[in-house]
Amino acid sequence: MLECQLMKKILVILGHPSTESFNGAIFEHYIKGARASGHQIRSLELGKLNFDVVFRNPHDQNAKLEPDLKRAQKDILWAEHLVFIYPIWWGNIPALLKGFIDRVFLSGFSHRYLSNGGYEKLLSGRSAHLIVTMDGPTIFESIYLRGSATTRVMKQAVLEFCGIKPVKITRIGQLRKKDKAAREKILEKIAELAG
Ligand SMILES: Cc1cc2nc3c(=O)[nH]c(=O)nc-3n(C[C@H](O)[C@H](O)[C@H](O)COP(=O)(O)O)c2cc1C
Repeated sequence: MLECQLMKKILVILGHPSTESFNGAIFEHYIKGARASGHQIRSLELGKLNFDVVFRNPHDQNAKLEPDLKRAQKDILWAEHLVFIYPIWWGNIPALLKGFIDRVFLSGFSHRYLSNGGYEKLLSGRSAHLIVTMDGPTIFESIYLRGSATTRVMKQAVLEFCGIKPVKITRIGQLRKKDKAAREKILEKIAELAG
């Protein structure tokens, strides 16, 4: 009974273009750990989706979405918890993930502007987890850059704006210096925290 109550519908999104990357390994281990704990999982590998990463017609309300993006929207609506796994590239999210957000988090889907000048958050009731890798030390990204890449863009400007909260952040730093054994330990921890 307790297990049923804790079981979540989780959508795991790989924002790294390559599944062969360490991010790809994190993605796999997260899914394995979450499934082992009884969560329902759907997943999106953004590098395998067929869509234009450039939002070419932001003012055309009737613009058609590619089937892969329609499916992504259904998966987001299905999910109670969204997990984004991605590397920091030039202090920011990879262009693939940015393009996905631009194209999928549309007015009318994730938020709606009101005639009184305000807006409505349409994805409330969901939480999120950002798992972010980098070569720099995590303290540099979280304190010196004040979380500019992850916390402000993804947590505040995207997810919380659409009503998704709380947003948990796991930073994995100094990857370049991590040998095989250290990486395996990280992957074990990822599988644990997915449960
Ligand atoms: C184009 C590019 C830009 C990068 N910019 C940063 C950066 O701004 N800060 C940082 O700490 N690491 C940076 N890195 C290192 C990546 O974060 C690191 O390679 C990645 O987290 C490793 O994950 P992966 O093995 O799954 O690719 C960059 C890497 C690339 C390829």
